[in-house]
Amino acid sequence: MVKLLDIGLFALALASSAVAKPCKPRDGPVTYEAEDAILTGTTVDTAQAGYTGRGYVTGFDEGSDKITFQISSATTKLYDLSIRYAAIYGDKRTNVVLNNGAVSEVFFPAGDSFTSVAAGQVLLNAGQNTIDIVNNWGWYLIDSITLTPSAPRPPHDINPNLNNPNADTNAKKLYSYLRSVYGNKIISGQQELHHAEWIRQQTGKTPALVAVDLMDYSPSRVERGTTSHAVEDAIAHHNAGGIVSVLWHWNAPVGLYDTEENKWWSGFYTRATDFDIAATLANPQGANYTLLIRDIDAIAVQLKRLEAAGVPVLWRPLHEAEGGWFWWGAKGPEPAKQLWDILYERLTVHHGLDNLIWVWNSILEDWYPGDDTVDILSADVYAQGNGPMSTQYNELIALGRDKKMIAAAEVGAAPLPGLLQAYQANWLWFAVWGDDFINNPSWNTVAVLNEIYNSDYVLTLDEIQGWRN
Ligand SMILES: *[C@@H]1O[C@H](CO)[C@@H](O)[C@H](O)[C@H]1NC(C)=O
Repeated sequence: MVKLLDIGLFALALASSAVAKPCKPRDGPVTYEAEDAILTGTTVDTAQAGYTGRGYVTGFDEGSDKITFQISSATTKLYDLSIRYAAIYGDKRTNVVLNNGAVSEVFFPAGDSFTSVAAGQVLLNAGQNTIDIVNNWGWYLIDSITLTPSAPRPPHDINPNLNNPNADTNAKKLYSYLRSVYGNKIISGQQELHHAEWIRQQTGKTPALVAVDLMDYSPSRVERGTTSHAVEDAIAHHNAGGIVSVLWHWNAPVGLYDTEENKWWSGFYTRATDFDIAATLANPQGANYTLLIRDIDAIAVQLKRLEAAGVPVLWRPLHEAEGGWFWWGAKGPEPAKQLWDILYERLTVHHGLDNLIWVWNSILEDWYPGDDTVDILSADVYAQGNGPMSTQYNELIALGRDKKMIAAAEVGAAPLPGLLQAYQANWLWFAVWGDDFINNPSWNTVAVLNEIYNSDYVLTLDEIQGWRN
């Protein structure tokens, strides 16, 4: 019996690999073994048990090392991609490149055995296609990829109201306008007003949304002489009929190394300070806790200027917490979530700021502060190729159970509208980071920016006029 079953499985495996390798995905899932693909700088190995087929592919140590899967498709069609991998040396990231164009980054959580991870979606063209798995962090093992035809996205089910029961009319009007857009169009956005003006010069269109940074209002920077016009820029864009988003590179209140490698103005980085958020929160009577509140109060002054000017704010503090590279994320999710709650209470309740729409900016479930203090979800995605970033989008759909709208709050490469629609990646807005990204052709060519900014799917400043009504 056992013998027969073995033979049966073996025959099945033979049959499916014989079918899968040269063939196109049909209605069900189809798996492609990595060892049967084209290897560039990578090798087949069998030392790690648990692989399927004849082995797995390893040796991602040079930047260009990759696996190229050749896949033919009868029609243009969207597929869910999953990757079977082992990240036996810790958390890793890989790049998935479709047809030598769109790049998406996929996170491989650490583990000591092979496992599958959802790796977003790929839109196959009719005819020949390639899917490359390219180094990025390297040092992982790839067993296979599987393609399954994507199900159509069900309608969104977004919360009708903001969390803050006292939200002012401006915030409510913005939220309701955003709901009317979500799923139909994408709002164009840019970090910093002067870069938005540069886009106008290149494309004839101005971004609908401008994001500014309250970094230089951080008390530990002001003490060292910084000044800022971020609030003035935000008000100017609002007065031009635009939408404003605000983030805060919060310079640590104290404990800046201020060395040659880590200057005081890098003080939001974990590497540039010994300020310990876990220890600070554990001692609410301590001097450092007082400094933390002092900083929040200083930022409240700036947010109140925006409130007084009638500006509703897409407010995105504690960004990229889950990355750990900023001090607010350096001690793991619990202190970060606690700090988010303190910020929410201090700004909304204590300071009575009612113009804020709270935008959370991490993807992982462990880090999520909860539905009651988060209005909109977002991610920062730095991947070249002007792709739709559908992996992160789908992860955020899962995090918010499709009750929260989802924004691409910082991107390196602006997404192409045709890909956004084909992938059903309904990001509410995108905002491209400033220097070295918006004005860097390896991230965004002027031709691509023109295509994006002149697309019907992309809302620009002229097209959102009157959103307050
Ligand atoms: C406050 O933080 C600084 C910087 O990390 C640290 O040197 C100091 O010991 C902390 N103070 C207290 C009372 O914990």
